[in-house]
This record gives sequence, C-alpha cells and structure tokens, in this order.
Amino acid sequence: MATKNGKVVLITGANKGLGKEIGRQLGALGYTVVITARDEQAGGAAVAELVAAGCDAHTVRLEVTNPDHIASLVSYLETTFGKLDVLVNNAGIALEWDGKPTNADKIRRTLEVNLIAPYAITEALVPLLSRSDDARVINQSSMLGSMGAAESMWEEIGGFMAVGYSTSKAGLDMLTLIQSKTLASKGIAVAAAHPGWVKTDLGSQAAPMEVDEGASTAVELVTITREQFPHGQLRHKGERMPW
Ligand SMILES: NC(=O)c1ccc[n+]([C@@H]2O[C@H](COP(=O)([O-])OP(=O)(O)OC[C@H]3O[C@@H](n4cnc5c(N)ncnc54)[C@H](OP(=O)(O)O)[C@@H]3O)[C@@H](O)[C@H]2O)c1
Repeated sequence: MATKNGKVVLITGANKGLGKEIGRQLGALGYTVVITARDEQAGGAAVAELVAAGCDAHTVRLEVTNPDHIASLVSYLETTFGKLDVLVNNAGIALEWDGKPTNADKIRRTLEVNLIAPYAITEALVPLLSRSDDARVINQSSMLGSMGAAESMWEEIGGFMAVGYSTSKAGLDMLTLIQSKTLASKGIAVAAAHPGWVKTDLGSQAAPMEVDEGASTAVELVTITREQFPHGQLRHKGERMPW
C-alpha cells in the first residue's frame, strides 16, 4: 500500500490518551499511522477520528499480552505494508493508583503489560523493522521509573511511586538501553520517552500537562533526524533525563 511520506508507524494502546494524540500528530505530518487497541470498537472510533482529521490511519486489534494477537499484527503489517518504520510501545497501565495497597498480582500484571509486552512486540517486529531504511523503536517510559529521581526526589514524587509501575518503567528503561545496543546491527534505533505528567485516564485530570504537549516527546523521537537520534537514552522534551 502506498503511504503519504513513505513511513509506517505503529502505536500500541492508541485508542485514547497519549497514543491517539501521537497518532494524530504523526498523521498530520504525513506518516501512515497504525493504531492498536485491545477493544475493536474503541480502535474503530479512534481511527475514524484520525481519518476525519485527514490522517492515513488504520487500526488493528491488539491485547499486548496476547501472543496470537501479536502474530496477527505481524501478518497484517507484512501483507499490507511489507515493512515497519517506527514502533511506539505506548500501551501501559498503572493498577496501583487505586488507593489500596499493592500486591504480587498487581505487580505481575503491570510488569506483563508495561515491560514484557513491549519486549515481545519489539522482538516480533524486528524482521519488518529491519526492512526500513530508518527504523526506530520508542518506548513510552516514565520519570517514575527513574532510580535517580526515587533517590533524590522522594519527598516530591515518592507518593506516586508504586512497586509494579515504577519497576516496570525502570525495566523498560533497561530494555531500551539493551535493545539500543543489540538491535543496532539490524539498523534499528531505540530510545525511551518520558511524556511528563499528562491529563489522560492514567495521568488523571489533576495532571498539569495537556495531551498534545505530552505527546510531543515521542513525536520528536520519531521525527528527529537519524544523525541526532539519542540512541539508548531516556528523553523528555528534547533533553536527556537521568536514569
Ligand atoms: N499520563 C501520564 O501522566 C503519563 C506519564 C508518564 C508515562 N505515561 C505512559 O504513557 C503511556 C500512555 O498512557 P496514557 O496516559 O495515554 O494512558 P491512557 O489514556 O490510560 O491510555 C493507555 C492505553 O493503553 C492501553 N492498554 C492498557 N493495557 C493494555 C493491554 N493489556 N493491551 C492493549 N492495550 C492496553 C489502553 O487501552 P484501554 O482503553 O482498552 O484501557 C489505552 O489505549 C503509558 O505507557 C503510561 O505509562 C503516562
């Protein structure tokens, strides 16, 4: 299938929130956008919005922890586009902000969605990413996974740091660093984004940042020149963030 600017971007968990906004911004720049959603109807509604805004947008059903869905996604991309240029691992959960104590089950489920799924999805898509002349993987991380921040800013942010969520994002940061090294020989560039504290269902309406600003860090990592790409780094609004 022909694409507007020749680039195909896949964004997970993009029926709402940051994922949908990243899709909207990249679609406006001429990227062909494939947004995934675990709920087919929600994916359909989001893609209809993006198409109405003039984007070349498509949707695929993806429960990120389901290996059969991941395999179907790979076949869809292979058949429809024959390659993938950018993967944004955006889907995420924060089960522990429900006012109740965390527990092993919540931690396990959080790690499954926020860490193991991005690993599995990236690995499954390596062959299609390898066909791009400028392949990138952007992992949507969080400052709440920063060990430096936990150590030095506990008074300010310790209340938001839950074991499952923070270790999942710390793990995602390490995955980013490892894959930036191991996938380099395949021509795949990898970096992580901290969007900021953003008004979404996950971030809540108490967050100071609007969703368009929150999406900008991931969008910049998709659009920055290959020469300037910050391999293996965690970035926020054009700056490197410490781990
Ligand atoms: N908002 C913030 O302040 C903030 C700050 C730092 C990092 N982040 C990160 O940014 C990413 C996007 O968050 P957001 O704020 O946009 O949250 P959001 O509005 O709640 O969106 C989360 C998305 O992930 C999807 N998702 C969750 N579990 C999934 C699963 N098992 N399979 C498939 N999709 C799944 C959700 O689908 P459903 O609609 O079906 O639930 C939704 O599309 C997350 O990784 C989050 O950790 C957000």
